[in-house]
Amino acid sequence: MAKTLPNHNPLHLKSWKALQQHQQELAQTTIADHFLQEPDRIEYSVLEWEDFYVDVSKNRINKRTLELLLQLANESGLEQAIQAQFNGVAINETENRAVLHTALRQVDSQPVLVSGKNILPEIASTKEKMYQFCEQIISGQWKGYTGKAITHVVNIGIGGSDLGPAMVYEALAFYKNHLDVRFVSNVDGDHYREKIKDLNPETTLFVVVSKTFTTQETLSNANSIRAWFLEQAPESAVKNHFAAVSTNLEKTTAFGIAAENIFPMNDWVGGRFSLWSTVGLSIALAVGPKHFEALLNGAGQMDVHFKTSTFDKNIPVVLALISIWYNNFWGAETEVLVPYTEYLRQLPAYLQQGIMESNGKGVGRDGKAVAHQTGTIIWGASGTNAQHAFFQLIHQGTKLIPADFIGFRKSIHGNQDHQQKLLANFIAQTEALMKGKSAATVETELKAKGMDTAAIAALTPFKVFEGNRPTNTLFIEQLTPYNLGALIALYEHKIFVQGILWNIYSYDQWGVELGKELANTVLEDLNSQHPQKHDPSTDALIARSK
Ligand code: F6P
Repeated sequence: MAKTLPNHNPLHLKSWKALQQHQQELAQTTIADHFLQEPDRIEYSVLEWEDFYVDVSKNRINKRTLELLLQLANESGLEQAIQAQFNGVAINETENRAVLHTALRQVDSQPVLVSGKNILPEIASTKEKMYQFCEQIISGQWKGYTGKAITHVVNIGIGGSDLGPAMVYEALAFYKNHLDVRFVSNVDGDHYREKIKDLNPETTLFVVVSKTFTTQETLSNANSIRAWFLEQAPESAVKNHFAAVSTNLEKTTAFGIAAENIFPMNDWVGGRFSLWSTVGLSIALAVGPKHFEALLNGAGQMDVHFKTSTFDKNIPVVLALISIWYNNFWGAETEVLVPYTEYLRQLPAYLQQGIMESNGKGVGRDGKAVAHQTGTIIWGASGTNAQHAFFQLIHQGTKLIPADFIGFRKSIHGNQDHQQKLLANFIAQTEALMKGKSAATVETELKAKGMDTAAIAALTPFKVFEGNRPTNTLFIEQLTPYNLGALIALYEHKIFVQGILWNIYSYDQWGVELGKELANTVLEDLNSQHPQKHDPSTDALIARSK
């Protein structure tokens, strides 16, 4: 293994050992101390790119930490790996595939070769077909089987064929047209039933999205929805109301989707990185080709930043390194993402798949079990809601939880009063997490409230905040399709960098494949008079399900 990417044991790198030593030296220094010790801290720890202002100064790092982390990136062969990815080398070695979601949004026309063939012309023509389809649906030129225009779209897919489109649809709600788009993913039959119960088949378009077109959930939902549709419409109506996105053109045709409604995707796009491809059809329908194009452009320009910036000024690289610093040298297990906008409510769920399906690996590129920590656990919710839910644990709990705060300087609808309150919270939280509150401050505050000495002494320990909780602040001008594209691409590159440094393969997902096989075995047993023997617990659950 590891023919296309560098292969190393991170634990044996000079920088890794130096970082272990360095962590011990820094263990007693707080973030606030670092600010006192480094007058130029802000200058070197703020990264600016286009509309992005990324401040990593509120971390348990100093200049030396960054130097060592950058050395780690260099010793890991990151530069070479970036070239390999963008040049279409089959770096997804366990599936023998290139990883080229970046080609879908490439801003120049430099050829990208897969098996010696430039894939850019095909990308352009597929996109053109998709945009024409979108224009027809949006303008109402496309008619349903009774001659009415389409008003509703249902995206049927799961994982990467659902989370990206669903997240972006919500994120770009302000930019959307009249089409109402819904997402059906779960094999739970109540999910699809609930989503379609008020729909009129005459005015609804169903988009079945599945890279493989073999996924149990998606096929079950697509079949049940088609049966519901055919209860009301003739078979000949399917061609006006069903479209598909897949690499598996045989299976989409067998399902009965008209050839002109099939939008191909390629195996060099991983499911969780596929919203830029035809998988983004529901997004393009909802916001129109112009905004979809802006989304692609933002991502494409972030790709340029990632490919061409020196590592010390490279936002995805620096964020990846800081995350590795906590994951591998401070024992942090999780990272929290808090977007301060309701539009990005689903970003943590989307990135859970992106990050955890990519880097949740325990075997290195050398085929051996790794002896270091890999993928972080990702979670989060929108701010300020999250402040009233789990922030207590981040402030005063026993766990170290590095946080990404994502905020936008300008609101979209322009209510300044609300925006200032939102930003005040966004900024104040990172300050509070860093500074905490000392016993002396608590005592002074309680005294000012007129509390007696004994009561103050009893209450003070509970009101003290240790502080020294690390945060990154990603402060972006405004939530536009372009900036959203750039933000998503930023996290995609962070995933890539971490996979390279941890010496794992980020683009396969064998762990999920096992789940699919196991469910099929149990499904057979649920329908069988003579189920196979499992363990006593599983046998009892199967028996109880009948
Ligand atoms: O969850 C596993 C997975 O393979 C994801 O990687 C993928 O996004 C999802 O299933 C859906 O797969 P498909 O698009 O082939 O239906």
